[in-house]
Amino acid sequence: MSQTLPPPIPQLLPETAPFTPEQRAWLNGFFAGYLGLGDGVTALSPQEGAALMAGVPALAKGPLDDGDDGEAPWHDQTIELPERMTLAEGRPLRRRMMAAMAQQDCGQCGYNCEDYSNLIVTKQEERLNLCVPGGKDTARMLKSLSKELGDAPAKPMAPAAPEPRALPATTVVTRNNPATATFLKRTRLNKPGSAKETWHIEIDLAGTAIDYTVGDSFGLFPANDPALVDAVIRALDAPPDFPIGGRTLREVLIDGVSLSPAPDMLFQLYSYLTGGARRQKAKALAAGEDPDGDAATLDVLAAIEKFPGLRPDPEAFIESLDPLQPRLYSIASSPKVSPGHVALTVDTVRYKVGKRERLGIASTFLASRINPNEPLRCYVQKTDAFGLPADPATPIIMIGPGTGVAPFRAFLHERMATKAKGRNWLFFGHQRSAYDFFYEDEFAGLKAKGVLTRLSLAWSRDGEQKFYVQDRMREVGRDLWAWLADGAHVYVCGDAKRMAKDVERALVDIVAQHGARTPDQAIAFVADLKKQGRYQQDVY
Ligand SMILES: Cc1cc2nc3c(=O)[nH]c(=O)nc-3n(C[C@H](O)[C@H](O)[C@H](O)COP(=O)(O)OP(=O)(O)OC[C@H]3O[C@@H](n4cnc5c(N)ncnc54)[C@H](O)[C@@H]3O)c2cc1C
Ligand SMILES: NC(=O)c1ccc[n+]([C@@H]2O[C@H](COP(=O)([O-])OP(=O)(O)OC[C@H]3O[C@@H](n4cnc5c(N)ncnc54)[C@H](OP(=O)(O)O)[C@@H]3O)[C@@H](O)[C@H]2O)c1
Repeated sequence: MSQTLPPPIPQLLPETAPFTPEQRAWLNGFFAGYLGLGDGVTALSPQEGAALMAGVPALAKGPLDDGDDGEAPWHDQTIELPERMTLAEGRPLRRRMMAAMAQQDCGQCGYNCEDYSNLIVTKQEERLNLCVPGGKDTARMLKSLSKELGDAPAKPMAPAAPEPRALPATTVVTRNNPATATFLKRTRLNKPGSAKETWHIEIDLAGTAIDYTVGDSFGLFPANDPALVDAVIRALDAPPDFPIGGRTLREVLIDGVSLSPAPDMLFQLYSYLTGGARRQKAKALAAGEDPDGDAATLDVLAAIEKFPGLRPDPEAFIESLDPLQPRLYSIASSPKVSPGHVALTVDTVRYKVGKRERLGIASTFLASRINPNEPLRCYVQKTDAFGLPADPATPIIMIGPGTGVAPFRAFLHERMATKAKGRNWLFFGHQRSAYDFFYEDEFAGLKAKGVLTRLSLAWSRDGEQKFYVQDRMREVGRDLWAWLADGAHVYVCGDAKRMAKDVERALVDIVAQHGARTPDQAIAFVADLKKQGRYQQDVY
């Protein structure tokens, strides 16, 4: 693997451009990163780059130099949208737009949250519906904020980027230039009788230029369920082979657009096609209202069925839908143990609304639609914010209930392969010990080998009362504090909305109780752990 060699920086600037070799090198790196051609290829930090470019007047000032202090107190995926917007009140539009994003920096939209909002404000990105985890709430907030944008022409953040068509071919695999890997197999991780459907997925990376490190996430492009696509085509009363941009309507519905929550634009389209009370209803739905109390249940098919008899032009219909975005999964393998392969731990999203079962697009694609040896378009989403400590002797505490265990399987494999001396403590939990103990035999083996120093379990539905990982953490708080005092790094992975907050609260309480600190000092202690990179989260 090419861990030690940085990828080559694509040469994007013409040789005749009026820059010094150093400036040219930095700008090539900047553009490559900006265009998604080479993650992390920028050789200098933004500050170093700015210093280097001092004296190049066209770059010195831009529309983003608005005097904002750069702090982003809303940049926390556990904070709900209304609170994030309150935290961003009074800030420039681009900062409020950033607060409207889901704060995961997950890259599913092709950017991080800050870059996505900056590009919207500078009118270099028109699409307001790209934030997958933020969904309709984020899209609506962005639409409302975008009214402040006015009609001024686009203002580039930096000198106009070269046309993408003029770019040299590149082998750097990114979201915008995915590789084609091969789906190998799926194995059910729950035993029969479980209320959950979770799969261990294996993918063969042979023939791709994909390189990953434990802690990274894996991005993949799913396809919609063909049965749902056919139901949509029937409801539209349109020919499946209707031509759209060189493809057929059916092909575009399979892998080009999302058939999940019906976007406001679809209701807007319907409002143009009908009159009277139906028009009012469509307009209300397009404005985010809920005239019949069913808005949350309206996926694209349900929306078409709500307005029977209307036959939108298939092209206009496709235009009104959201693009089908990739999904991310924490990598559950180490390239040192599984070279050329990647493993994932995927919970299958299925739920019923009325008589129809709704399917999570990517999770059911992996759970049942893709077959062994079939191609899979994918890429790796690198992260600097979630990874093993540089010093292999540093102890680590990993807290990962449910699918949150995925990156910790990878960490343990990596630590085993590198014979790292540091102690490893895993907190795992799920619903029932008899059915939902993922990787049970493997963890027993790692314990026997001395790689997994300690395994603490929490089964939420085995007893009368719920018992979660944070309850187990409190029980063993004294030992946890001792590990922290020894310099342990703490990692949390899994549900962002509730678990991540509760685990952090438990850690604060443990620090206060066993580290003899006041509540405020304990909060500051945990905040400091985060600043030092000793408390890292991969939550979704
Ligand atoms: C960095 C990162 C790492 C991740 N790692 C993992 C991982 O390791 N394993 C994993 O399984 N997932 C992981 N995820 C989540 C994953 O990316 C997908 O979001 C998840 O698999 C669902 O995608 P989907 O396409 O199947 O569902 P979608 O089609 O996107 O549908 C999901 C949506 O369905 C709705 N929904 C779900 N259940 C219900 C219900 N009961 N009632 C009503 N509505 C409901 C919700 O609105 C939900 O947002 C990760 C996400 C990120 C950002
Ligand atoms: N929208 C939601 O409300 C919600 C909730 C959970 C998960 N999810 C999503 O579902 C997907 C997969 O979930 P998963 O299979 O990894 O498992 P999961 O549903 O997150 O559950 C894993 C374990 O965590 C427990 N748990 C529930 N609330 C908790 C809390 N506040 N603190 C600590 N543990 C808690 C669960 O218990 P019980 O199930 O018995 O309560 C279960 O034992 C993820 O994408 C996750 O974000 C969504």
